[in-house]
Amino acid sequence: MSQKIRTAVFPVAGRGTRFLPATKACPKEMLPIVDKPLIQYAVEEAIAAGVTKLIFVTGVTKRSIEDHFDVDPELERALQGPGKEQLLASVRDILPPGVSCIYIRQGEPLGLGHAVLCARPAVGDEPFYVHLADDLIDSETSVLLQMANEYDKHGGSVLGVELVPPERTSSYGIVAVSGAEGGPQRITQMVEKPKPEDAPSNMAVVGRYLLDPAIFEKLESTRRGAGGEIQLTDGIAAMLDESPVYAFSFTGKRYDCGNKLGFLMATVGYGLRNSEIGAEFRAALRDELLN
Ligand code: G1P
Repeated sequence: MSQKIRTAVFPVAGRGTRFLPATKACPKEMLPIVDKPLIQYAVEEAIAAGVTKLIFVTGVTKRSIEDHFDVDPELERALQGPGKEQLLASVRDILPPGVSCIYIRQGEPLGLGHAVLCARPAVGDEPFYVHLADDLIDSETSVLLQMANEYDKHGGSVLGVELVPPERTSSYGIVAVSGAEGGPQRITQMVEKPKPEDAPSNMAVVGRYLLDPAIFEKLESTRRGAGGEIQLTDGIAAMLDESPVYAFSFTGKRYDCGNKLGFLMATVGYGLRNSEIGAEFRAALRDELLN
């Protein structure tokens, strides 16, 4: 039986070494695309799916994420007055009423599976989302909401997937599926970052998971895998026989903001579609490319 999903886990403890020195003292999740940090896009997607409990699994240098989602009376006072209404709303309305934040520290960088396990006491015995803010997806309907709608059809767990060029399999969790075309695609195999020759397909997991709480028991006994880390992929792979996990091809354009090229493409894509500066940006970009 399906139930409403109210909890989202955001693993944000990673150091973002690919963006050093920008991420020396600033969390990579706080890097902005146009005028909003990546983590705010993530939270907005979750709230649009009906989430009311946001769990951030944080680490050192991540304090500004807490500040971002907190109220800032001093700033709000400074933005009182005519002409600043929009700015004031943009800092005051980041979280709607009824949404709460929980912060849990991941003391050691032991991997994504370990980060999700750290959230166990705050999640409880309910299905929940895991959202990786690096994977920014521009879509009309929140991808987590799309996944909730899919979950309503068959329960279980649901993972967002996308086909990637076969030579890129070693950057992602890769799945094999069974099921008639157009129907539910049940995952039969899942491998973390396989070489192309070892990959069961080129269907990659993106950073969107709707997970049955059975995952926690599996993660408790998951050993270090790819990269010497406790992998979420290995925990999910361990439950495939007992608890159904489905692959879901979402609608939307995904930007892998975990690397510089994807981050720049997101900046360009969101910049061009921005209602305030999009047209001007398009013209400026054209000039830049022509000169
Ligand atoms: C993580 C997961 C991987 C998934 C990817 C999506 O890898 O371990 O299975 O495909 O996110 O972005 P990371 O990007 O943290 O190396």
